[in-house]
Amino acid sequence: MAEQLTEQSAKQFANEIYRKMKGGVEKRFLIQHTKGVVKTSVNLAKGKQVDLEALKIAGWLHDIGRSVNIEGHAELSVKLAEEKFGELNPIVKDCILHHGSTKDPETKEGKIIQLADKLSIMNDFKLFKIIFAKEKYKEKSIDMIGYVSRDLLEVLKRYNWEE
Ligand SMILES: [Fe+2]
Repeated sequence: MAEQLTEQSAKQFANEIYRKMKGGVEKRFLIQHTKGVVKTSVNLAKGKQVDLEALKIAGWLHDIGRSVNIEGHAELSVKLAEEKFGELNPIVKDCILHHGSTKDPETKEGKIIQLADKLSIMNDFKLFKIIFAKEKYKEKSIDMIGYVSRDLLEVLKRYNWEE
């Protein structure tokens, strides 16, 4: 029997997956980033009619596939989540599958997660400390902030604040 998917079980599953990763910047990044996406998406959802539970579930699960591979990680996240929880609700699936900046989410929740995924990185002081703490990751981290900024601008061009 698949386990019931709730915000709590999604959070637990993501943390389990990330805890099992061997230590390092990627692991610490994913734990901090995931919390940031959930928090930011809830903030962005204020005043909007959205499925908050689906939004938070998607926030927790959107990057779990990165524990396997960064390439195609959105699809991998869905696969891991469905192995654990059974078929995902279409809103959660849309959020996870389309969180990349080149994708076009169909739901309001998907659009929020897509923006939260980029926006949350830019003002997360703890996250910056994680990625910039080691000199050998500095160049890679600067590159990452560069592409996240470009992705953020792409997403902002399409984002509807009034919707
Ligand atoms: Fe992400």
